[in-house]
Amino acid sequence: MDTVVSGIRSTGNLHLGNYFGAVKNFVQMQHKSNCFFFIADWHSLTTHPTPADLHDNVKRVLAEYLACGIDPEKASIYVQSDVPEIPELYLLMNMNAYLGELERTTSFKDKARKQPENVNAGLLTYPVLMAVDILIHKAQKVPVGKDQEQNLEMARKFARRFNNTYGEETFPIPQAYSFSGEFVKIPGLDGSGKMGKSEGNAICLIDDPKDIRKKVMKAVSDSGPTEMNQEKPEAIHNLFTLMDVVSTKDTYDFFNDKYNNCEIRYGDMKKQLAEDIINFTSPIRERILDISKDDEYLSKVTRLGAEKARESAAKTLEEVRKLIGFRKF
Ligand code: TRP
Repeated sequence: MDTVVSGIRSTGNLHLGNYFGAVKNFVQMQHKSNCFFFIADWHSLTTHPTPADLHDNVKRVLAEYLACGIDPEKASIYVQSDVPEIPELYLLMNMNAYLGELERTTSFKDKARKQPENVNAGLLTYPVLMAVDILIHKAQKVPVGKDQEQNLEMARKFARRFNNTYGEETFPIPQAYSFSGEFVKIPGLDGSGKMGKSEGNAICLIDDPKDIRKKVMKAVSDSGPTEMNQEKPEAIHNLFTLMDVVSTKDTYDFFNDKYNNCEIRYGDMKKQLAEDIINFTSPIRERILDISKDDEYLSKVTRLGAEKARESAAKTLEEVRKLIGFRKF
């Protein structure tokens, strides 16, 4: 069975774009592959969160992923900082990562430009830590977005380098696992582009019904089609894309026919869309709220996750120590 690893950076609340673009796929993958999903809290230290923010972010991400259907009995879901094998392999891998290649990484150059007052060494070696996250479980597949491709290329480079140096096929060469094509890109509500928290056009799973109605009613539309079966402009196409993922086929067809007959009233369509989004998110939202209150459950889940992750990590680390030549006596 394939091993899959994906790290989740703890930023912001999950929105519909995250759900349909990533989390839903994680939930499906956990039945088919040996999955490790973890909250990358060490990575998040590069931006110096306060202790309270660090803690709250980890808890929120965990509650949201569990509420979406990640099953701690099926996948290993864990917090990165619960796995001390990771920093040991990170130390070892750092010996074969070179300043030049790390400095040339686009994400490092971007960060250095954006936070010139905090160009810390952790930022420089971020790709090494990420490679270790993947290699420590000998993963073949890494479901990540386009922005992570260079980091993944570095992971492949470090894996090959280790394999060449120690003359063994220790690490499989990890491949990006992209869902694009297979799954829908969720657009934002502002007429163009995709849904994203930084764009401020997102509907979060935790949003209450009132907020959802307000956001959807404010979504960009236009004055309506003027010809039968007219091609939809982007803003309208986006509303239909959202409807396609949350509404029934009948509802979608109803409004699609209205559009094609030039009889559509966007107010009615948005009202329906808002209610269908609420129907979709409400049970998830309730689970998020319940799980967040249940520290005992959360602690049980993280303990189980750490146990499974450490077992897998310890095995790899043991092998690596031997290959490098640490004492056998
Ligand atoms: N760098 C990834 C991001 O910013 C998060 C991450 C850390 C990750 N370690 C990973 C992703 C290992 C995949 C595999 O989104």
